[in-house]
Amino acid sequence: MLAIKDSVAVITGGTGGIGMALARFWIKNKGKVVLADIMPEALAQAKDELGKDVVTITCDVTSEEDCGRLADKALEAYGQINLVAPFAGIIMDGLMLSTDRETGKVIKKMSLEKFQKVVDINLTGVFLTVRECTERMINNNCRGLICLISSTGSLGTAGQINYSSTKAAMSVMPKVITAEFFRRGLSGQIRCAAVAPGYVGTSMVKNMNQKALDKILNEIPIGRLIEPDEVADLVGAIYQNEALAGETYFIHGGLRLGSRG
Ligand SMILES: NC(=O)c1ccc[n+]([C@@H]2O[C@H](COP(=O)([O-])OP(=O)(O)OC[C@H]3O[C@@H](n4cnc5c(N)ncnc54)[C@H](O)[C@@H]3O)[C@@H](O)[C@H]2O)c1
Repeated sequence: MLAIKDSVAVITGGTGGIGMALARFWIKNKGKVVLADIMPEALAQAKDELGKDVVTITCDVTSEEDCGRLADKALEAYGQINLVAPFAGIIMDGLMLSTDRETGKVIKKMSLEKFQKVVDINLTGVFLTVRECTERMINNNCRGLICLISSTGSLGTAGQINYSSTKAAMSVMPKVITAEFFRRGLSGQIRCAAVAPGYVGTSMVKNMNQKALDKILNEIPIGRLIEPDEVADLVGAIYQNEALAGETYFIHGGLRLGSRG
């Protein structure tokens, strides 16, 4: 079992609902946190709340330079990186092609910009964060976990061709990274896994209109949204249990996926 006490977590999207829950969890368990986000004011507030065992850094995960600075900052501040949690993510939903109900002809297309922006943050941003942090982990002989965040959307949600595609990528990356590290004798030292939440009660979901939210709640057997703390707790469990690697762990309250039986 790996101990959280004195370990260092690098969290992007750190001031968001799930990122902040993970930061609180890490601090509560006596770990240290490097919190990154594009929102400087939210970072300052987070620092006030979380206290002395947190350093914050403004970082746009789509920038190679920013991700390098983030990894360097963690080493400068704490000398090691043990958990990489690249949680920065956005949604920009829409149909790939919208047709007119009367004529049946296409009247609107998802723009390249809308597709690309989600890919840039949710996929390329994760690649850059993981590559830069893990380079430092290897070179400084750090032990720990890369914990990606997928989603039940990875299974294919209508209206989310951009988001679902990036989250499907998050489900395959643990297998790729684990296999690559296995070849190099690193897979025991640095594991990679993903969590795949269903609907979590953060602004990403709570900002939906009430009708859409009610429809979602009807599909969740436990009768409520997942709490951000519950996702943080799962990340902590995967971190500590070194038998867990290369896999994606769902946390969705029994959400009915695929066939409705
Ligand atoms: N909320 C859910 O239901 C749910 C379900 C499954 C997966 N997820 C995933 O969990 C992660 C966190 O989601 P959340 O619900 O906490 O969302 P959130 O909107 O509360 O937080 C996302 C954070 O990412 C930051 N961010 C956006 N663009 C960035 C960039 N370019 N560089 C750095 N930071 C950036 C935002 O400022 C924000 O603080 C996302 O990857 C999301 O896809 C969320």
